[in-house]
Amino acid sequence: MNRILIGAQWGDEGKGKMIDLLAEKSDIIVRFQGGNNAGHTVCVNGKKFILHLIPSGILHRNKVCVIGNGVVIDPEAFFDEVDMLLRSGISVKGRLFVSNQAHLIFPYHRLLDRLKEEGGKRTTKIGTTKRGIGPCYADKVARLGIRVIDLMNPDYFKERLQNVLEERNLTLRKIYGHPGLSFKEIYTQYCRFGEKLAPFVRDTALYLYEASEKRKKILFEGAQGTLLDVDHGTYPYVTSSNASVGGAISGTGVTPTLIDRVIGVVKAYTTRVGEGPFPTQFPPGLLERIQKKGEEFGATTGRPRRCGWFDVVIARHSARINGLDELAVMKLDVLSGVDRLKIGVGYRHGGKVYRNYPAETPILEKCEVIYEELPGWKEEITKVRRWKGLPTNAKRYLSRLEKLVGVPVKIVSVGSDRAQTIFL
Ligand code: GDP
Ligand code: IMO
Ligand code: MG
Repeated sequence: MNRILIGAQWGDEGKGKMIDLLAEKSDIIVRFQGGNNAGHTVCVNGKKFILHLIPSGILHRNKVCVIGNGVVIDPEAFFDEVDMLLRSGISVKGRLFVSNQAHLIFPYHRLLDRLKEEGGKRTTKIGTTKRGIGPCYADKVARLGIRVIDLMNPDYFKERLQNVLEERNLTLRKIYGHPGLSFKEIYTQYCRFGEKLAPFVRDTALYLYEASEKRKKILFEGAQGTLLDVDHGTYPYVTSSNASVGGAISGTGVTPTLIDRVIGVVKAYTTRVGEGPFPTQFPPGLLERIQKKGEEFGATTGRPRRCGWFDVVIARHSARINGLDELAVMKLDVLSGVDRLKIGVGYRHGGKVYRNYPAETPILEKCEVIYEELPGWKEEITKVRRWKGLPTNAKRYLSRLEKLVGVPVKIVSVGSDRAQTIFL
């Protein structure tokens, strides 16, 4: 059984927890897009791990983890994470593979990301994680990228870096008035990274093909979320990769005919970090209350996440784009004690009603949301382990979400720990 796990909102849905749970019944866990802009939290026996680049399945000591060709790799972040795991007694030796075709993040990518964000006008500032993700993907598509495999050939790498850096330094000088970066420093540092990376490097597409021939079970770990997808998200307020289901195919080289199920992860409400439209955002008061109760502060940048009501318009969009077979609804416990629960079911703008996701940014920014209201519940539910144990109004809320989104809810999460999960 090969499964793809996708964030169905704006990221931070709780994918890390779900991957950790589903990894038990998988052999190989694969990241396929994004980079260390992700922050996936896994809580094991009271200890919290945050994975940015390495698949969250790595905490299971007998599983193989793969960083696919669609991921952008900052070698410094990669080795920091390997060291963090080692300090916790988790070895990655012989079970962590990096695609030879993945593109590398360089210091000029991080610098350009930061300069663009800091100098940006309101219309160009995205609120990125400043990890160099956008500039690295831009170079990949502009055919100015440098791949992992290129580091394995120092002469080729030297010539390539010289050419690319010349262009990038020109941008830094002419547009940003920055003196530019030193070739020698970057070349020396990345040659060293190349030597250290070598034991991890594989043709991962071939590895995954051969593994599937042997009936190994592959779990694809999405990063970010469908509404941050560069094609299907709230453009331009998106990340620079395909965070929806297509990314799992192009970002690994695994054919879609090998995929058995697609699982969408949603929060029982909605959150978003960074700039961009968010129709169902809470009014002040409730915003701070849920932020506090849900501990809604970014796992990568520590920024407060904006919070709002569950939005069926975006969830249905995700269900369609990804062909979701099932939903995992996370953080239901955070809604305990909210008197009346609202669910956004449509947008109204310029005398028109939108039930399907409108791609126009001005509509998403200015629309009025059409809400349904349901009564809430008072009980704390973090100790509930079965559907039957949930308060009646919590069951009503979940059933209504399932009906409106049109995808069966198979998992409900009521706390960050592995055990705080209800399987339906
Ligand atoms: P990801 O990026 O999708 O992996 O999600 P993050 O790790 O960035 O954010 C999810 C946060 O919610 C983490 O701090 C998790 O530990 C926490 N979490 C996950 N599931 C639950 C839940 O059911 N209830 C509560 N209260 N917290 C949860
Ligand atoms: P996980 O995998 C939530 C957001 C940033 C910004 C936009 C572009 O933990 O769900 P980027 O640095 O990617 O160019 O930033 O995307 N963003 C995320 N938001 N969760 C994430 O990852 C995110 N990764 C990027 O805040 O709005
Ligand atoms: Mg996250």
